[in-house]
Amino acid sequence: MSNDAPLNLVVLISGEGSNFQAIQDAIDASKLNAHISLLISNRADANGLNRARRAGIDCTVVKPLKGQPRSEYDQRLIEAIEPHAPDLIVLAGFMRILSPLFIQHFSGKVINIHPSLLPAYKGLDTHQRVLDAGEKHHGASVHYVTEELDAGERIIQSRITIDTNDTASTLQQRIHQEEHVIYPRAIQLIIDQKRA
Ligand code: GRF
Repeated sequence: MSNDAPLNLVVLISGEGSNFQAIQDAIDASKLNAHISLLISNRADANGLNRARRAGIDCTVVKPLKGQPRSEYDQRLIEAIEPHAPDLIVLAGFMRILSPLFIQHFSGKVINIHPSLLPAYKGLDTHQRVLDAGEKHHGASVHYVTEELDAGERIIQSRITIDTNDTASTLQQRIHQEEHVIYPRAIQLIIDQKRA
């Protein structure tokens, strides 16, 4: 990419797509020098698809076929993504584990947002788990994706203090707000590094 060309992003989602929206809003507000060339969902009913259509972003559904091995599904994803030649693949609530085939194909180009202060609380159900453990703090992390789940190099984190009356639901809302700030920021940090 030339030095000031917008970073070319492909975004993968499974659901609401509010993180995708936060990234698109940052682009629209000229706070992020990037362009989303494609949004992919593995679910046809993901609300993020409606958001993408409203924003005029090219979007497609790559639906897993019954009994299809993970690597075959991921090969279909690769084929959908490749023509767009992205600089970065942004996982924004994409609820599938990607195979080594996919990770190796796009090595160093895949990032994810995870609702915990990694390396603590990898995996699912993080809000309830931090409450059950009596933690004082919680947060969100943006990290590079490697073959080991939620273990790649961290790019940025946001930390909140847990209130005594927080529930899993209030934590989810509070963490979402943090995510919407740090995901565009993480992408900007990557842009700055590329230019340095
Ligand atoms: C976020 O909480 C993110 O941390 C997790 O999935 C959720 C996606 O939310 N990986 P949304 O679809 O972006 O609203």
